[in-house]
Amino acid sequence: MHVDRLIAYANPATAAALGVASVAELIGRSIVEFATPLTRAKISARMAASDGGVVDLPGNTTVSEQSFVRVDDGREVHAEVRSIAYTYEGRVATLSTARDITWRTETEHAARLAARAHAEVVAERERLEQQLRQAQKMEAIGRLAGGVAHDFNNLLTVILSYAELDFDALAPDDPIRENFIEIQKAALRAVSLTRQLLAFGRQQLLQPRPVDLDHTLRGIASMLRRVLGEDIELSLVTGCAAREVFADPGQIEQVVMNLVVNARDAMPTGGTLTLTTQLVELPDGPPSDPFAAEAGSFARLTVRDTGVGMDEATRARIFEPFFTTKALGHGTGLGLATVFGIVHQSGGRVTVASEPGRGARFDVDLPLATRPAGGPSETVSTTRITAGTETVLVVEDEDAVRVLLGRLLRRNGYHVLDARGGDEAFRIATAYTGPIALLLTDVVMPRISGPEVAKRLVADRPGLKILYMSGYTDDTTVRHGVRQAGVAFVQKPITSDVLLQKVRDVLDTENAGLVIAE
Ligand SMILES: Nc1ncnc2c1ncn2[C@@H]1O[C@H](COP(=O)(O)OP(=O)(O)O)[C@@H](O)[C@H]1O
Ligand SMILES: [Mg+2]
Repeated sequence: MHVDRLIAYANPATAAALGVASVAELIGRSIVEFATPLTRAKISARMAASDGGVVDLPGNTTVSEQSFVRVDDGREVHAEVRSIAYTYEGRVATLSTARDITWRTETEHAARLAARAHAEVVAERERLEQQLRQAQKMEAIGRLAGGVAHDFNNLLTVILSYAELDFDALAPDDPIRENFIEIQKAALRAVSLTRQLLAFGRQQLLQPRPVDLDHTLRGIASMLRRVLGEDIELSLVTGCAAREVFADPGQIEQVVMNLVVNARDAMPTGGTLTLTTQLVELPDGPPSDPFAAEAGSFARLTVRDTGVGMDEATRARIFEPFFTTKALGHGTGLGLATVFGIVHQSGGRVTVASEPGRGARFDVDLPLATRPAGGPSETVSTTRITAGTETVLVVEDEDAVRVLLGRLLRRNGYHVLDARGGDEAFRIATAYTGPIALLLTDVVMPRISGPEVAKRLVADRPGLKILYMSGYTDDTTVRHGVRQAGVAFVQKPITSDVLLQKVRDVLDTENAGLVIAE
């Protein structure tokens, strides 16, 4: 029996659904001509199966979804088609009833797309929120740490300096000398912790200048080898030739050191540590991330180890101060917090990639200095004369520190005027008829800041030299000048040696009267 599978009958609704003018246009054609490629394949497969003589038995119903392309406007129509085998005018036939489900299909499709888009938006929003929460947390801990460190600095300055003064006053064989040495040692340890907290809070006074990163690394390579020990191989690949980063060289060494020590700790049974430098171009970070670096040219320092690695939960917290997975007494949890603070305060960023058992990689990106390498580098003074007879005006709101500075300077021959703050300093300076050689002032003070005091005093006394002291500086001061080259300052807590040396240096330097710009 021949089965031609051509349309023998159709109703007007079918013609309208397929976009043909009349039923007559359908008779004698195959429904396959109107189907979409997918539906065509489906129908053809079914036809092929029944062509081998197997014809659908009367009464058998199949239901399927099929799609057609309208002849007049080319739009797709979707139909739910029920087919039943039966006999038409004495021949084997299939009667198909179609229900137009175009509307439903399109709606479902749109809904699926919308749901997927929504899920993506939600995921992205959650990621950004998480990032923001993390950033806010770091910001808050940073501010807290910086504030605590600031207070500690003043206390430590007092402890250290009095210990030193009284120590000096003791006879060389006095048994109490030992006690003072212990006081000093403990205080110096506290100083070092305080510095790390300040670094994390991005409130350290940095002294950035163009630094040759490759050169710096080669300079500390032998020390790093000693730190790593014999079981760990160090390989150093430098690739930032002729370009300098703008950073504080001492702090950069600190960053490398902290990362290297961590890598060593992660490789207790040995391994390889690779230090690489290269130049990279970075796009802008996401605007929601306050710690993202701005777009531009960076030098990338990569520290890669083959150690134990870390899981996601650890990785999420490593930059927090006091977060450590090490046994009590083995880790302070301040190493990476310090790295974070220094790198961000330097306008850079640090990222980490690690998996348990697969080592860790830290990328530190530092902004490039704008001029090429080879410029003059800072000369270090080696003078050791620390006494003098000049007049120094000390402005410091913290009583204990001010009294101490006065004592120290007087003992070394200076004539000291001291003021609790700006107003008192202006009164003293107006009343005092002799020359004032140096203004030694705190930076952050209530009411009138150190830079403001300096600006007003210099207006009347153009030769006045200025030395700032600060353990901590608010962002404004950092932005407005303490970081600029040529501004003299000492970092609190101040030890007498450093202060006296610095005072002498500034007095002996031409043009030390630089005022911090507003
Ligand atoms: N290279 C590394 N491989 C694996 N884990 C690391 C690595 N560096 C840091 N960590 C993890 O980050 C934590 C915090 O590091 P850090 O801030 O330097 O503090 P500490 O070294 O005192 O624990 C470590 O305790 C360790 O869990
Ligand atoms: Mg560490």
